[in-house]
Amino acid sequence: MKLTNYVDGKWQDAKNLQFTAVLNPATGKELAQVQLSGASDVDRAAKAAKAAQKTWAKVPAPKRASYLYEIGRIMKERKEHLAQVLTKEMGKVIEEGRGEVQEGIDMAFYMAGEGRRLFGETTPSELSDKFAMSVRAPIGIVGLITPWNFPVAIATWKSFPAIVAGNTFLWKPATETPMMAYEMSKIFAEAGLPDGVANIVFGTGSEVGTAMIEHPDIRVISFTGSTETGRKVAELGGRNLKKVSLEMGGKNAVIVMEDADLDLAVEGILWSAFGTAGQRCTACSRVIVHREAKEELQDRLLEKMKSLTIGDGTDESIKVGPVINKKALEKIHSYIEIGKQEGAVLLAGGEILTGGHYDKGNYYAPTLFTNVAASMRIAQEEIFGPVISIIEVDSFEAAIEVNNGVIYGLSSSIYTQDVNRAFKAQRDLDTGIVYINAGTTGAEIHLPFGGTKGTGNGHRDSGVAALDVFTEWKSVYVDF
Ligand code: ALA
Repeated sequence: MKLTNYVDGKWQDAKNLQFTAVLNPATGKELAQVQLSGASDVDRAAKAAKAAQKTWAKVPAPKRASYLYEIGRIMKERKEHLAQVLTKEMGKVIEEGRGEVQEGIDMAFYMAGEGRRLFGETTPSELSDKFAMSVRAPIGIVGLITPWNFPVAIATWKSFPAIVAGNTFLWKPATETPMMAYEMSKIFAEAGLPDGVANIVFGTGSEVGTAMIEHPDIRVISFTGSTETGRKVAELGGRNLKKVSLEMGGKNAVIVMEDADLDLAVEGILWSAFGTAGQRCTACSRVIVHREAKEELQDRLLEKMKSLTIGDGTDESIKVGPVINKKALEKIHSYIEIGKQEGAVLLAGGEILTGGHYDKGNYYAPTLFTNVAASMRIAQEEIFGPVISIIEVDSFEAAIEVNNGVIYGLSSSIYTQDVNRAFKAQRDLDTGIVYINAGTTGAEIHLPFGGTKGTGNGHRDSGVAALDVFTEWKSVYVDF
């Protein structure tokens, strides 16, 4: 199967016919070949998007929204197929694959509703016989750069608000997971979305991403990925005067206080640390626990970790799938030596799984470090794999300080039965998302998604807040 770009409503070859293989991370088998495009392909797509945008901006927003209803309907009809493709190319277990596709479906219907609520404001003018109002105007052509860990959900958080707001877009999916983008191109076409509104250009960040950011007609770049790459996007975007929305890494913590319901806490930690094999920007990678609860929490976690089945996520009984590729395996594994050298104690995991079917895929054992100091690299850097570090504290205040003492600020969680602590925590935890008595993952599509500090630059995906990225405020004065 060869995946080609989707431009102006047609699938077409890139100028230079170069391809790279898409591998199933569970089996190592080749699933498809994807095109590696260049700057001239970006230009071709931008021309199509520019031509389409003139008309699209004039289509009434509720009518633009009607295409999202149709896209959502097709996605719903095709949910199982999409989930299977997602699990094969990305590796997350099928239950999570279905959950992710559902997120995209929810986003379609939610954003379609926003088509009737693109509200501006009217205000009394200072002058007589004058009417003053503001409207949300489309920005024009927007560039979407999406990661491999949520190949469809994150794309819908960006493309659906862009569509409803009257923009046209170029989307560069991660080269590891282009099949979901290809599936979405078929859905855009079947839903009758006018040619040129949605354009997909496959290729690397350094070629296609750079060309998108440098393209004079693309006004917004919405990026989700690593903080390292996000910084480059921001620098180049700044030089080219783009509006840049960044959603980057996390070093998310679950705080467990001495009064916590430990059954609930263990369940939340397991799911948010080992779901998607720890490859979520929201994944829990630190457990900050009160000294009085530490031993028991640790024992219960170790016990439950034994029941985590690891393997090919298309098998319904598997709880932890593979990581995306060999490079990721090596990166995750490099942190084991780093942790040991810093004095942390490895209680479980810490190995690349080998033997039998493990040899073909990229499997890492769920890993638990204890006696971790908050300043250690394993407690500061994003590992992006199934690795948790237990950090002991002796007060609520210390727990908040440790939580906030990292460069990231995406998601945090606290388990406590004390309502005062819960409310103080939601105020004091310096992250874009806070959970009380739940793990660090599972954000819903109707609220803003994003983080503080090294996680973001003040913008949000998802929810009504996403419209702030994809619209421009226009103030209108009418003299009469
Ligand atoms: N919805 C996903 C989560 O919160 C991104 O983990």
